[in-house]
Amino acid sequence: MQNITTTFKKFFYLWRRSQVPVKQPTKISRIDNLIIFLVCILISIISSYKLLLISPLSFTVIFSWLLTFTEILISSGILILISKKENPTISSRQIILIISLLLTVQSAKLALASTISPLSIIIPPALIISQGMGSITALTWVSIATLSWPDPAVAINNNLIFNLLVCASVVSLLGGRIRSRAQLLQLSIFVPIGSFLCQWILIGKDKISVINEQSFVLSKEDIFSDSLLLAIVMLFTILFIPIFESIFGLLTKARLLELADKEKPLIRRLSLEAPGTFEHTLLICGLAEEASRMIGGDIDLIKTGALYHDVGKLHAPNWFIENQNGSKNPHDELDDPIKSAAVLQAHVDEGLKFARKNRLPKLIANFIPEHQGTLKMGYFFQKAKEKHLDINENYFRYKGPIPQSKETAILMLADGCEAALRAMNIDASDKEALETISNIIYSREKDGQLDDCNLSKGEIFLIKRAFLNVWKRIRHRRIQYPTSKNNTFS
Ligand SMILES: [Fe+2]
Ligand SMILES: [Fe+2]
Repeated sequence: MQNITTTFKKFFYLWRRSQVPVKQPTKISRIDNLIIFLVCILISIISSYKLLLISPLSFTVIFSWLLTFTEILISSGILILISKKENPTISSRQIILIISLLLTVQSAKLALASTISPLSIIIPPALIISQGMGSITALTWVSIATLSWPDPAVAINNNLIFNLLVCASVVSLLGGRIRSRAQLLQLSIFVPIGSFLCQWILIGKDKISVINEQSFVLSKEDIFSDSLLLAIVMLFTILFIPIFESIFGLLTKARLLELADKEKPLIRRLSLEAPGTFEHTLLICGLAEEASRMIGGDIDLIKTGALYHDVGKLHAPNWFIENQNGSKNPHDELDDPIKSAAVLQAHVDEGLKFARKNRLPKLIANFIPEHQGTLKMGYFFQKAKEKHLDINENYFRYKGPIPQSKETAILMLADGCEAALRAMNIDASDKEALETISNIIYSREKDGQLDDCNLSKGEIFLIKRAFLNVWKRIRHRRIQYPTSKNNTFS
């Protein structure tokens, strides 16, 4: 009996942990909630009002209208819940985009259902949603849009609906993983070809496949023009995805990889004007990427975020030790710990300004303040104490916020460990390196910096191992290889 209780407790604990969001959810204002609710009501009205036009209006008709209305309203609610679950940081703009696309599909159904197949209307929005909000949200959107598609006034071939579901699911699943615009183009060519073959086999051989007034089914010629239309609409959608990205703040994989390009002007400036910070950034990218891979985090997001985390140092590169290269330390000349602390804080404030100027997405900009959290600038605080300045410790703390996601927390830990690992003796053992990493991570934990990021103890353990693996790689690189006198093999 005790065993059953323990097992039950374990299951309950695991279930509760799975319910904890990996990122702090964003709050949606009341007015946005009202707009979202009104759009959902509009979708339900558009999807069900035709039932009320049936005369005579009987109780059964009203009941079936009410049932359809409620069904669509609940479905829209479920769609929003699932999108929030998949993307805890989803903004109200993005939710409005998802339901507006559903509204567009329902309106298109009213206007075009008897002249156009649902393929060209449902698949392109699925591509946008899977790219911006992930595959699960896209799959849910597709199921709701497809299930509410059949119009009572227009009979549709079941094979067509089956084909639509298969193609839209493929687009939703692949769309969430696609990492470049070239792959998107391939998808927009292969899906219409696949749909053409599928329809040819399923519908083309169907003897009733002729257009008549009562039912909407496709002839062989229509199958071709339908797939061609799908390809054209998908190509146009790909052209418009960057516009959706900037209007609705979508962060697609392709956009992340574009931002991670080291030829981007801001990153180029960092490498030229603050080479020490650039080197530090590259090493952090390696640490953070390895740790994120270990815990199953978003590798592309953390790599790009790491690249931009210290761009604020561009405002005064030589005030940061990694760029001083043996020259005089301006902080010594300043000799004012409070002003020095203000220069350090400025690398966060200026970084956010750079992010705004360069239109960096919010998820990337979040890395700038969160990698410093509310950490204490220990060195300058100590100096102030030595000078007997009676000053509040909070003046020597970054303004925060503390990391709100696992990715920004990993970056904070990598930022803390980087200098220590780089400075470690080449002969240091793995045990010593692990001890250094553990001490730094423990101090961050004790300081309350990891309170909001939902990293579990197990994940912190994996992050330590990941940092150790990277340290082993660095050490390996630093070992000098013996070279032959004649250098014959090189
Ligand atoms: Fe920093
Ligand atoms: Fe840094």
